[in-house]
Amino acid sequence: MKVSKNHLTLSLIGAAVVALTACGGGGSGPSGTAAISTTVMDGLIQNALVCVDANNNGLCDAGEVQGRTDANGQVTLTVPASDVGTAKLIAMIGTDAIDADTGPIKTAYAFTAPAGRHEVISPLTTMVQAKIDSDEKAGKATSVDDAATYVQAALTLNVSVLDNYIARRVSNPDSKEAGDDAHALVVVAQASKCDDDQTEMDGKKEATQQNETHIGLLGKLNDIKSIDFSHSSCAAGPGAACDDFIKSKVPAVPSTSCVPQPAPAPAPAPAPAPSAANGKVLYAANCTGCHGANPALNTNNILNGANSPSTILNAIATNRGGMSFLAATIQAPQANDIAAYLATPGI
Ligand code: HEC
Repeated sequence: MKVSKNHLTLSLIGAAVVALTACGGGGSGPSGTAAISTTVMDGLIQNALVCVDANNNGLCDAGEVQGRTDANGQVTLTVPASDVGTAKLIAMIGTDAIDADTGPIKTAYAFTAPAGRHEVISPLTTMVQAKIDSDEKAGKATSVDDAATYVQAALTLNVSVLDNYIARRVSNPDSKEAGDDAHALVVVAQASKCDDDQTEMDGKKEATQQNETHIGLLGKLNDIKSIDFSHSSCAAGPGAACDDFIKSKVPAVPSTSCVPQPAPAPAPAPAPAPSAANGKVLYAANCTGCHGANPALNTNNILNGANSPSTILNAIATNRGGMSFLAATIQAPQANDIAAYLATPGI
């Protein structure tokens, strides 16, 4: 269709740019370098860390060519010419990045652009890579073009998912729709993050979890497609109301390797401080018959229970003097209060 032709043209232009900027040291040897320019977007994202994922681990590692995007979401990387056609680009978007549409990033995440297709790094290019990864796990090699066609069809978009939808969204409703879908993917991906990595995107574990979530999102493209972005929650543009609306339509897809966070142990109720006054009332009601009205007289060794609830409970448990009938009435809280009273029988 027309779309893939456009896309093909763009790829050829990209290849030409790369060829023109390649600068082989004293020839066209493998030591030549090339410039890759790309734009990171949900909305245009400033200060994303972009790298060539030369070792294909889903992270920007210290030794990999990398750079930060400018206010237009753009960055140019100088890479070995041999990497241009093969390496994926990763954009790590931390809480130090800013989205031109929605402001500072609150939940870190990562995008990918598939090997050799670097015009943009977006949620949609990320889904293309997820499709490739998912098929690869199933033992099937899928080309970038086939994966892009799959994602585009799943979202019923009329523009290529490898396109710069922001550059075209003002004039082209199809690009606007692609951008809306792209943003929804970010919202659901963020909602799907494990509780333990909200603000970081800096480790192998996070990279794995992100990749699993992206593959999981492939199964949600139909839900994403069905979101009505003309709904009142989204009519005013991007924002919390629209994000909540998106989340209400598309359930989160936590990665299978998310470690469930143990429910916080309920804080033990602080033991109430013993009340001698209450102990006095309890003593008068339950103990005077055998120990007398005034415990200070120590009738039947009652003062052995002063400040010693265990002595009282033990006397009841062992039926000293026939006290076992008190077992239901005098338990730990009551014994605590009586023990306090016996320590201060003058109150
Ligand atoms: C039915 C009579 C009776 C009642 C009621 C009774 N006691 Fe006693 N209690 C005794 C007798 C008799 C002893 C002494 C038994 C012994 O020395 O073997 C005793 C002993 C004790 C001792 C000393 C235990 C020890 O190990 O030295 C404590 C303390 C005590 N009672 C607390 C209480 C408290 C508190 C109450 C009220 C909640 C209570 N008793 C109610 C008859 C009673």
